[in-house]
Amino acid sequence: MSVNALLTQLTLQEKASLTSGAEFWYTVGVDRLGIRPIMVSDGPHGLRAQPTGGDHVGLSGSVPATCFPPAATVASSWDPSLLYEVGRAIGQEARAINLSVVLGPGVNIKRSPLCGRNFEYLSEDPYLAGELGVGIVDGIQSKGVGTSLKHFAANNQETDRLRVSAEVTERALREIYLPAFEKIVTTSQPWTVMCSYNKINGVSSSENHWLLTDVLRDEWGFEGLVMSDWGAVYDRVAAAAAGLDLEMPPALPYSPDAIVAAVTDGSLPEEVLDDRVRAVLRLAEQGAPILDLDESYDADVHHALARRVAGESAVLLTNDGLLPIAPGTKVAVIGEFARTPRYQGAGSSQVNPTKVVSPLDALSEVFDTTFAAAYTIDSYEVDDALVTEAVDVAKDADTVVMLIGLPGPEESEGFDRTHMNLPANQLRALAAVAEANPRVAVVLVNGSSVLLGDVTPHASALLEAWLGGQAGGGAIADIVSGAVNPSGRLAETLPHRLEDSSSYLNFPGAWQKVLYGEDVFVGYRGYDASHIDVAFPFGYGLSYTSFETSDLEVVTRGSVATNDLAASVSVTVTNTGAVSGRHVVQVYVSDPVASVARPPRELKGFTKVALDAGASTRVSIDLDQRAFSFWLETLGRWVVESGDFVVAVGDNSRDLPLTRTITVDAPPVAAPLTEWSTYQEWLADEQGRALLDEAAAAGQPDLRSYGDLVEVIGNFPLMSLATFAGMAPDHDTVLSMAATWAERHGAGR
Ligand code: BGC
Repeated sequence: MSVNALLTQLTLQEKASLTSGAEFWYTVGVDRLGIRPIMVSDGPHGLRAQPTGGDHVGLSGSVPATCFPPAATVASSWDPSLLYEVGRAIGQEARAINLSVVLGPGVNIKRSPLCGRNFEYLSEDPYLAGELGVGIVDGIQSKGVGTSLKHFAANNQETDRLRVSAEVTERALREIYLPAFEKIVTTSQPWTVMCSYNKINGVSSSENHWLLTDVLRDEWGFEGLVMSDWGAVYDRVAAAAAGLDLEMPPALPYSPDAIVAAVTDGSLPEEVLDDRVRAVLRLAEQGAPILDLDESYDADVHHALARRVAGESAVLLTNDGLLPIAPGTKVAVIGEFARTPRYQGAGSSQVNPTKVVSPLDALSEVFDTTFAAAYTIDSYEVDDALVTEAVDVAKDADTVVMLIGLPGPEESEGFDRTHMNLPANQLRALAAVAEANPRVAVVLVNGSSVLLGDVTPHASALLEAWLGGQAGGGAIADIVSGAVNPSGRLAETLPHRLEDSSSYLNFPGAWQKVLYGEDVFVGYRGYDASHIDVAFPFGYGLSYTSFETSDLEVVTRGSVATNDLAASVSVTVTNTGAVSGRHVVQVYVSDPVASVARPPRELKGFTKVALDAGASTRVSIDLDQRAFSFWLETLGRWVVESGDFVVAVGDNSRDLPLTRTITVDAPPVAAPLTEWSTYQEWLADEQGRALLDEAAAAGQPDLRSYGDLVEVIGNFPLMSLATFAGMAPDHDTVLSMAATWAERHGAGR
């Protein structure tokens, strides 16, 4: 039966109950009509399915699943095709347990390094997050399994996350916090979108008509279902009116009762409820085929994929030549994290892995290893005996591989961090070990960024391995031994100090409000605009080989007037080193002179290429009109202003040796003239000038006769100038000029 036919068969009570779930992870079924309940489960870097009931913060157990590296890690691969592969694997695991919708990916922007869920999010950059998110959504959905793009929107902290209002300009929303969602919705049509807990400018996401209907559906063309984050519905009727289709988990019996009452008393039109129900019925239809599958997956193959992904995502930050270390070398493996790996974050994304390989075990397969713990991870106290033992072990080896990182309780869903420091006991142990044997390769395991000022002086090589998932240990061994050439690039800036980050003064807010005072200057956009030196810039990462990028060519086509400005950016990349490797070509765009403050540069394109030693290739990256645009609040739309734009290509956001300046011609951008437009604004407009002349010809004072005085009175609105009787056209004339202007522009008034 079609969705519309089903709708006619449902009672009001049934419709109302369909718009809340049946229980924690299931939608409501209606037996007599063959509507079957489907299962939804976390997400995002592996499944956390609890088919027999559960909780939303990972406290109870879940079905074993492959724990792929979390978002912060895979984002550093800068490789959407790799995320697609992960998506396919997760999709297959979902099929194997008859799971219809995976609750992810999370594509919120890392506004502050302190957000407790940064390990679960992709990047500080919206373009990168969007491209990578498309990879994972397409991968999962290619398996006939749905996704839930979350948390929509402006959920950039955990502090007071259910009540806090993100006080943010529309420009920052449009340019920073929404584009990843927009890109994924318009490219991939995720089956569902999950609204966030927080408010945006005072309105809860679940009740936000502008967000859920005007932007998501009407502007972006979203065709799927909007579900709530778990417990994000505060007023079920208001949420239904705003566009929230499915409440999860269900607030029973309150929510369905409230919907029935509201439809009955007319405060919620039944057609609005019908729209919500249609979305639920469509989802039930999409998800139903999964229910009857009897499939499996190969856990070893997925483990191997998880290892490859972790290897391609680790970022080599420094290397004085120590890495790679020849297999068979006598290596002291130091650090409790080598034996007791940290490989994912805590909360609703926590996967029960099919197996876990520790870095120590993996390194021991390649090297002649000894081990010392050096520190404990359940205490931050320096343990002198452990340090002494580590020093002895270090002295006795050719080379040291030392793992340090963030203990589990430091980063989790539910709360934010208060600092970016590594534990003092680990830093103390590192200093002692490096003094005993300076040949130390430091491997970092952490999901959120950390300060490295006390690490780099002691490290002959520094590898940011992030949280590597269940096979992360093997990936570390692969890179340390040179079996894998590192090709990860930072998806977030690593600052010298927390205080340097642009959200520092406004994070996490207080009294249920957080002001996004830095506006669009998030991540590298902020560090660059304020000329702040950083430890490692956005986009940075080393390799065991070297690459040269040359012969930049930028060819533009289309025009702003026809709304199809585009550019092709091509460069030649050569692997100038001795081993094969992968390189990320990054394209940034700057608009040096604009009517609004714009970030000094913004990532607008990238591609990852694999090249054998000595090989060269020509790559081409396309930019569309959006790459040159900003959101102009006054007009409520994207705008490109005439003038020069710089297209810069290079290895990271602070190393862009190749640039081309292109000149863009665009229609003038101006707000409609009204009586409250300034004299200068009237003068800048052809019709405006004509109307001033017409007024003068009709005997009104001629403002234009004052010549240079325009500098002084130019910023007065005409209505204000009218107050200076005898000097400017009078009030009635100004009003009629404004009306005529509107008429001539067909704007009406
Ligand atoms: C989280 C979501 C998650 C949901 C279900 C919420 O607390 O914010 O990301 O999908 O729980 O576990």
